[in-house]
Amino acid sequence: MPAKLDGDTDLDNSLRPRRLDEFVGQDRVKDQLQLVLDGARRRGDAADHLLFSGPPGLGKTSLAGIVAAELGVDLRTTSGPALERPGDLAAILTNLERGDVLFVDEIHRLPRPVEEILYPAMEDFCLDVVVGKGPGARAFRLPLPPFTLVGATTRTGLITSPLRDRFGFATRLEYYAADELAGILTRSAGILGIEVAPDAALEVARRSRGTPRIANRLLKRVRDYAEVRADGVATLGVARLALDLFEVDGRGLDRLDRQILQVLCRDFGGGPVGLSTLAVAVGEEPETVEDVVEPFLIQQGLLARTPRGRVATAGGYAHLGLAVPPGMPGTASLFPG
Ligand SMILES: Nc1ncnc2c1ncn2[C@@H]1O[C@H](COP(=O)(O)OP(=O)(O)OP(=O)(O)O)[C@@H](O)[C@H]1O
Ligand SMILES: [Mg+2]
Repeated sequence: MPAKLDGDTDLDNSLRPRRLDEFVGQDRVKDQLQLVLDGARRRGDAADHLLFSGPPGLGKTSLAGIVAAELGVDLRTTSGPALERPGDLAAILTNLERGDVLFVDEIHRLPRPVEEILYPAMEDFCLDVVVGKGPGARAFRLPLPPFTLVGATTRTGLITSPLRDRFGFATRLEYYAADELAGILTRSAGILGIEVAPDAALEVARRSRGTPRIANRLLKRVRDYAEVRADGVATLGVARLALDLFEVDGRGLDRLDRQILQVLCRDFGGGPVGLSTLAVAVGEEPETVEDVVEPFLIQQGLLARTPRGRVATAGGYAHLGLAVPPGMPGTASLFPG
């Protein structure tokens, strides 16, 4: 662990829910997960392999920790890009104890030869090993202890179907509703010892892009503002001033969100325009635009994906205060795909 933690990483860890009942919102996912875990516990088996997908900051890593805690087993954590060679994964697998949870973050970024090691490991709890080279090479199977693989991904579309098929339970986390986020903020304020008025919590919640990590981050800025420029209490007025200062608008769009929308509406006449072109225009990585910005703008009905590229919706123009071009369909649902 680094000697000095970046403030927000520190915050993520202190506020991370540890048990299922501390995990606010996503009731359906929690209910389903509870059943899967109860079933495994009752039988004394390792739980089925679990796949969590969804945009960054919605709680995938937290859920992996919760699964291990609820099962009372150890959590081993790694990630797709960290597993460069099959041997890297084999070393981890052979060190697992019976029932352990192996968490593979960014599982869509596993190199293919590593992914192929996972298939028999997930399905039959064994490792196919080849010893030697050429005609003298011998293959044998090494048994592994039963374990639970928990995969997380921001891109379900990039998971190959042989891998996806080996998960017993796959679920997608959706953006949180404002009242759920307000619940998370109230919990966080309690942990951090900040006094937050209920209407202030709701205001921060509404402007957090449906994302707990962002809600917690904004809460910290509101706390700064309350302590430095007010009397320490996060009232609605304080929350609004702080959020305005950090350029989070009334609907939760941040600077980058608005920049993307502006480029699309102003420079490209509303599109269609390719994702990489949009990314270059704002000086961002295409992955960031695709994983972080776009899902939220689509969910808000401000941008849509078409086979020919990204297009702004009438709502997108309206949000920027721009005149909606004549003849433009009004809703995102008119652009399927
Ligand atoms: N349901 C929840 N209840 C309470 N807090 C939550 C919840 N979901 C997420 N959080 C908070 O948000 C932070 C980020 O969540 P987490 O790291 O689990 O997201 P993630 O989906 O793994 O993100 P990434 O894709 O960026 O890895 C957590 O540290 C926690 O403080
Ligand atoms: Mg994570």
